[in-house]
Amino acid sequence: MKFFIDTANLKDIKEAQDLGVLDGVTTNPSLMAKEGITGSDNITQHYKAICDIVDGDVSAEVIATDYHGMIKEGLALAKLNDKIVVKIPMVKDGVRALKYFSEAGIKTNCTLVFSTGQALLAAKVGATYVSPFIGRLDDISTDGLSLIRDIRLIFDNYGYSTQILAASVRHSMHILNCAKLGADVTTSPLSAITSLLKHPLTDAGLAAFLSDHRKAAGN
Ligand code: G3P
Repeated sequence: MKFFIDTANLKDIKEAQDLGVLDGVTTNPSLMAKEGITGSDNITQHYKAICDIVDGDVSAEVIATDYHGMIKEGLALAKLNDKIVVKIPMVKDGVRALKYFSEAGIKTNCTLVFSTGQALLAAKVGATYVSPFIGRLDDISTDGLSLIRDIRLIFDNYGYSTQILAASVRHSMHILNCAKLGADVTTSPLSAITSLLKHPLTDAGLAAFLSDHRKAAGN
Protein backbone atom coordinates (compact mmCIF):
# COMPACT_ATOMS: atom_id res chain seq x y z
CA MET A 1 0.00 0.00 0.00
CA LYS A 2 1.23 3.48 -0.85
CA PHE A 3 1.56 6.17 1.84
CA PHE A 4 0.68 9.70 0.77
CA ILE A 5 0.74 12.68 3.12
CA ASP A 6 -2.24 15.05 3.08
CA THR A 7 -0.71 18.48 3.65
CA ALA A 8 0.87 21.51 2.03
CA ASN A 9 3.34 21.89 4.92
CA LEU A 10 6.86 21.62 3.46
CA LYS A 11 8.45 20.66 6.81
CA ASP A 12 6.07 17.71 7.28
CA ILE A 13 6.54 16.63 3.65
CA LYS A 14 10.33 16.73 4.08
CA GLU A 15 10.13 14.75 7.35
CA ALA A 16 7.96 12.05 5.73
CA GLN A 17 10.24 11.91 2.68
CA ASP A 18 13.33 11.59 4.91
CA LEU A 19 11.65 8.77 6.87
CA GLY A 20 11.71 6.81 3.60
CA VAL A 21 8.04 5.82 3.54
CA LEU A 22 6.53 8.57 1.40
CA ASP A 23 4.97 7.71 -1.97
CA GLY A 24 3.21 10.99 -2.68
CA VAL A 25 1.41 14.12 -1.49
CA THR A 26 -2.18 15.29 -1.70
CA THR A 27 -3.20 18.92 -1.25
CA ASN A 28 -6.46 20.80 -1.45
CA PRO A 29 -7.44 24.50 -1.39
CA SER A 30 -8.08 24.36 2.38
CA LEU A 31 -4.63 22.88 3.07
CA MET A 32 -2.94 25.54 0.90
CA ALA A 33 -4.87 28.28 2.73
CA LYS A 34 -3.83 26.76 6.08
CA GLU A 35 -0.19 27.34 5.10
CA GLY A 36 -1.01 30.94 4.12
CA ILE A 37 -0.37 30.28 0.42
CA THR A 38 -2.56 32.65 -1.62
CA GLY A 39 -2.49 34.05 -5.17
CA SER A 40 -1.90 31.94 -8.26
CA ASP A 41 1.84 32.70 -8.54
CA ASN A 42 2.53 31.71 -4.92
CA ILE A 43 0.38 28.60 -5.28
CA THR A 44 2.30 27.61 -8.42
CA GLN A 45 5.64 28.13 -6.66
CA HIS A 46 4.43 26.07 -3.71
CA TYR A 47 3.46 23.14 -5.94
CA LYS A 48 6.92 23.31 -7.51
CA ALA A 49 8.54 23.30 -4.04
CA ILE A 50 6.49 20.22 -3.03
CA CYS A 51 7.51 18.43 -6.25
CA ASP A 52 11.17 19.19 -5.50
CA ILE A 53 10.91 17.38 -2.14
CA VAL A 54 8.73 14.35 -2.82
CA ASP A 55 9.65 11.36 -4.92
CA GLY A 56 6.12 10.53 -6.12
CA ASP A 57 2.75 11.86 -7.23
CA VAL A 58 1.58 15.30 -6.06
CA SER A 59 -2.16 16.04 -6.29
CA ALA A 60 -2.98 19.67 -7.16
CA GLU A 61 -6.65 20.65 -7.13
CA VAL A 62 -8.43 22.82 -9.71
CA ILE A 63 -10.56 25.68 -8.40
CA ALA A 64 -12.86 25.94 -11.44
CA THR A 65 -16.11 23.96 -11.32
CA ASP A 66 -17.01 24.25 -15.03
CA TYR A 67 -15.63 21.92 -17.71
CA HIS A 68 -13.58 24.44 -19.71
CA GLY A 69 -12.20 26.09 -16.59
CA MET A 70 -11.11 22.71 -15.19
CA ILE A 71 -9.38 21.80 -18.46
CA LYS A 72 -7.53 25.13 -18.62
CA GLU A 73 -6.40 24.97 -14.98
CA GLY A 74 -5.59 21.27 -15.11
CA LEU A 75 -3.42 21.61 -18.22
CA ALA A 76 -1.48 24.46 -16.58
CA LEU A 77 -0.98 22.41 -13.40
CA ALA A 78 0.13 19.31 -15.32
CA LYS A 79 2.77 21.40 -17.14
CA LEU A 80 4.46 22.31 -13.82
CA ASN A 81 6.00 18.88 -13.25
CA ASP A 82 5.53 15.24 -14.33
CA LYS A 83 4.67 14.42 -10.70
CA ILE A 84 1.50 16.55 -10.75
CA VAL A 85 -1.82 14.72 -10.60
CA VAL A 86 -4.78 16.95 -11.50
CA LYS A 87 -7.34 16.78 -8.70
CA ILE A 88 -10.92 17.16 -9.92
CA PRO A 89 -14.10 17.32 -7.79
CA MET A 90 -16.85 14.75 -8.29
CA VAL A 91 -19.36 16.96 -10.10
CA LYS A 92 -20.91 16.46 -13.56
CA ASP A 93 -18.40 18.68 -15.38
CA GLY A 94 -15.68 17.00 -13.33
CA VAL A 95 -16.57 13.61 -14.78
CA ARG A 96 -16.23 15.07 -18.30
CA ALA A 97 -12.91 16.66 -17.35
CA LEU A 98 -11.63 13.35 -15.92
CA LYS A 99 -12.41 11.71 -19.26
CA TYR A 100 -10.58 14.48 -21.14
CA PHE A 101 -7.44 14.16 -19.00
CA SER A 102 -7.55 10.37 -19.14
CA GLU A 103 -7.58 10.48 -22.96
CA ALA A 104 -4.77 13.07 -22.90
CA GLY A 105 -2.60 10.78 -20.73
CA ILE A 106 -2.65 13.18 -17.76
CA LYS A 107 -2.95 11.66 -14.27
CA THR A 108 -6.06 12.55 -12.25
CA ASN A 109 -7.42 12.23 -8.72
CA CYS A 110 -11.21 12.40 -8.38
CA THR A 111 -11.88 14.05 -5.02
CA LEU A 112 -14.88 14.50 -2.70
CA VAL A 113 -16.13 10.95 -3.25
CA PHE A 114 -18.67 9.74 -0.68
CA SER A 115 -20.49 6.89 -2.47
CA THR A 116 -19.84 3.79 -4.55
CA GLY A 117 -21.80 5.34 -7.43
CA GLN A 118 -19.43 8.29 -7.56
CA ALA A 119 -16.40 5.97 -7.44
CA LEU A 120 -17.82 3.83 -10.27
CA LEU A 121 -18.32 6.91 -12.47
CA ALA A 122 -14.73 8.04 -11.83
CA ALA A 123 -13.41 4.58 -12.75
CA LYS A 124 -15.57 4.45 -15.90
CA VAL A 125 -13.92 7.61 -17.25
CA GLY A 126 -10.42 6.41 -16.39
CA ALA A 127 -9.45 8.42 -13.29
CA THR A 128 -5.99 7.43 -12.03
CA TYR A 129 -7.11 7.75 -8.39
CA VAL A 130 -10.46 7.99 -6.67
CA SER A 131 -10.55 9.62 -3.21
CA PRO A 132 -13.26 8.39 -0.82
CA PHE A 133 -13.29 10.65 2.29
CA ILE A 134 -13.59 8.13 5.11
CA GLY A 135 -13.08 10.50 8.07
CA ARG A 136 -15.83 12.86 6.95
CA LEU A 137 -18.22 9.90 6.62
CA ASP A 138 -17.29 8.80 10.15
CA ASP A 139 -17.96 12.39 11.27
CA ILE A 140 -21.64 12.02 10.32
CA SER A 141 -22.00 8.61 12.02
CA THR A 142 -21.56 6.64 8.80
CA ASP A 143 -19.00 3.84 8.39
CA GLY A 144 -16.30 5.32 6.13
CA LEU A 145 -14.35 2.07 5.96
CA SER A 146 -17.34 0.18 4.52
CA LEU A 147 -17.12 2.51 1.51
CA ILE A 148 -13.52 1.38 0.93
CA ARG A 149 -14.64 -2.28 1.16
CA ASP A 150 -17.49 -1.75 -1.34
CA ILE A 151 -15.39 0.20 -3.86
CA ARG A 152 -12.67 -2.52 -3.68
CA LEU A 153 -15.32 -5.17 -4.46
CA ILE A 154 -16.73 -3.23 -7.42
CA PHE A 155 -13.34 -2.35 -8.93
CA ASP A 156 -12.15 -5.98 -8.58
CA ASN A 157 -15.37 -7.32 -10.15
CA TYR A 158 -14.58 -5.46 -13.38
CA GLY A 159 -10.82 -5.05 -13.24
CA TYR A 160 -10.86 -1.25 -13.09
CA SER A 161 -7.32 0.09 -12.84
CA THR A 162 -8.36 3.24 -10.94
CA GLN A 163 -6.53 3.22 -7.61
CA ILE A 164 -8.47 3.62 -4.36
CA LEU A 165 -6.86 6.53 -2.51
CA ALA A 166 -8.43 6.54 0.97
CA ALA A 167 -8.61 10.22 2.00
CA SER A 168 -9.72 12.11 5.09
CA VAL A 169 -7.66 9.51 6.97
CA ARG A 170 -7.29 10.81 10.50
CA HIS A 171 -5.30 8.24 12.54
CA SER A 172 -3.19 5.10 12.43
CA MET A 173 -6.13 2.69 12.79
CA HIS A 174 -7.67 4.18 9.66
CA ILE A 175 -4.41 3.38 7.83
CA LEU A 176 -4.28 -0.20 9.14
CA ASN A 177 -7.94 -0.88 8.37
CA CYS A 178 -7.54 0.54 4.86
CA ALA A 179 -4.57 -1.82 4.41
CA LYS A 180 -6.73 -4.79 5.50
CA LEU A 181 -9.46 -3.78 3.05
CA GLY A 182 -7.08 -3.46 0.11
CA ALA A 183 -6.99 0.31 -0.44
CA ASP A 184 -4.18 1.12 -2.89
CA VAL A 185 -3.17 4.32 -1.10
CA THR A 186 -3.92 6.21 2.12
CA THR A 187 -3.38 9.93 2.48
CA SER A 188 -3.11 11.20 6.04
CA PRO A 189 -1.43 13.72 8.30
CA LEU A 190 2.18 12.86 9.19
CA SER A 191 1.08 12.09 12.78
CA ALA A 192 -1.06 9.15 11.59
CA ILE A 193 2.01 7.64 9.90
CA THR A 194 4.41 8.18 12.81
CA SER A 195 1.83 6.72 15.24
CA LEU A 196 2.38 3.38 13.48
CA LEU A 197 5.83 3.36 15.10
CA LYS A 198 4.53 3.34 18.63
CA HIS A 199 4.22 0.34 20.96
CA PRO A 200 4.77 0.40 24.76
CA LEU A 201 6.51 -3.01 24.66
CA THR A 202 9.05 -1.60 22.18
CA ASP A 203 9.81 1.31 24.54
CA ALA A 204 9.99 -0.98 27.62
CA GLY A 205 12.10 -3.56 25.78
CA LEU A 206 14.58 -0.97 24.53
CA ALA A 207 14.89 0.59 28.00
CA ALA A 208 15.62 -2.88 29.50
CA PHE A 209 18.21 -3.71 26.81
CA LEU A 210 20.05 -0.43 27.38
CA SER A 211 19.89 -0.78 31.17
CA ASP A 212 21.27 -4.35 31.04
CA HIS A 213 24.03 -3.19 28.71
CA ARG A 214 25.02 -0.39 31.12
CA LYS A 215 24.97 -2.78 34.14
CA ALA A 216 27.12 -5.38 32.35
CA ALA A 217 29.63 -2.64 31.45
CA GLY A 218 29.72 -1.60 35.14
CA ASN A 219 28.18 1.85 34.54
O1 G3P B 1 -7.48 16.02 0.98
C1 G3P B 1 -8.78 15.64 1.22
C2 G3P B 1 -9.06 14.99 2.55
O2 G3P B 1 -8.02 14.13 2.91
C3 G3P B 1 -9.49 15.95 3.64
O3 G3P B 1 -9.42 15.39 4.91
O4 G3P B 1 -9.44 15.62 7.39
O5 G3P B 1 -10.19 17.56 5.94
O6 G3P B 1 -11.59 15.52 6.15
P1 G3P B 1 -10.21 16.07 6.16
